[in-house]
Amino acid sequence: ASKKLFLLPGDGIGPEAMTEVKKLIAVMNENGAGFETEEGLVGGSAYDAHGQAISEADMEKALAADAVLFGAVGGPKWDDVPYEVRPEAGLLRLRKDLELFANLRPAICYPALAASSSLKQDVVEGLDILIVRELTGGVYFGEPKQIIDLGNGQKRGIDTQIYDTFEIERIAGVAFELARTRNNHVTSMEKRNVMKSGVLWNEVVTATHKAKFSDVKLDHMLADAGGMQLVRWPKQFDVIVTDNLFGDMLSDVAAMLTGSLGMLPSASLGAPDAKTGKRKALYEPVHGSAPDIAGKGIANPIAMIASFAMCLRYSFNMVAEADRLEKAISAVLDAGYRTGDIMSEGMKKVSTAEMGDAIVAQ
Ligand code: NAI
Ligand code: MG
Repeated sequence: ASKKLFLLPGDGIGPEAMTEVKKLIAVMNENGAGFETEEGLVGGSAYDAHGQAISEADMEKALAADAVLFGAVGGPKWDDVPYEVRPEAGLLRLRKDLELFANLRPAICYPALAASSSLKQDVVEGLDILIVRELTGGVYFGEPKQIIDLGNGQKRGIDTQIYDTFEIERIAGVAFELARTRNNHVTSMEKRNVMKSGVLWNEVVTATHKAKFSDVKLDHMLADAGGMQLVRWPKQFDVIVTDNLFGDMLSDVAAMLTGSLGMLPSASLGAPDAKTGKRKALYEPVHGSAPDIAGKGIANPIAMIASFAMCLRYSFNMVAEADRLEKAISAVLDAGYRTGDIMSEGMKKVSTAEMGDAIVAQ
């Protein structure tokens, strides 16, 4: 089977973090992994090269790849470029054309960092949950979406929450499939008590469960109560599936359970190909291009490396390799290696490259 990786390092610390992933790919290839890699430009670096946030040629490569690894885009240099070609437009185009409707945000608390979490140690220690957020529908996209002048000195802002059956079915399907590879438990969150789209969400998730995934444990929770439970006792969850808006907020809340932005990976998945069954996929750290530390060689590469671990797991079914990589990250943290963003007293402060090398060695 082909293993085509398309690398889009992007701007700022994106390329610095991607360099560490390239080391891992090289070592895996020396041991027969067989990854074919190509590299393209996205964001400000693509704009500088050809006036677009991503070129048509690179879009084609992204569409043809088995997985896209994305660094980060943006920076003050491009603050004033035209809106349609701003750096973020590259990422939005990728999400749209690859139809990446499922956004996966794990919240994992590495034991070595539990003590420095913003929450109590026993609440987060050993935490490993996954939030599955619907990414291409809901209130961020529904029409009408406008501000109307009511003519009496008043204006009206309108956004529209819309979900169709197929959108709920496919995101629920992703959540149930992923739960089977984890602890077999899905919690679906909506607001069926006040929203019609929430009533439908609840119905469709329940029906999908009954039809295809009855071996998985399913719970329903109102999204506001879910937010409270996520902070109170997050270990009660395994996979949380929710809509675009609630998922945006709940995944940011979950992020703060685990510490630095420099540690957080993500994946975005599309529909399975009709012939091959393979899903289009893009893997990226949650953080941005961090212009304040770019070029200094001090960025934390773990978010990018952990995103590659998700890629191994979800795009190539290389579960043992993904486990090994995640254990290597954990072991390097146990050994006291820290980039500046996660540094604490008595630990070994290392550069981006030293952190990457330590993980490769492990
Ligand atoms: P940011 O995530 O780039 O940085 C926020 C803070 O966290 C900064 O102090 C930064 O130094 C630190 N940080 C982030 N990642 C780190 C890492 N790996 N290691 C150590 N420290 C890290 O968010 P910010 O500052 O809001 O945005 C900067 C630029 O990035 C903007 O142009 C923004 O539009 C873009 N951005 C791009 C994203 C993407 O490509 N998906 C996502 C978020 C922002
Ligand atoms: Mg957000």
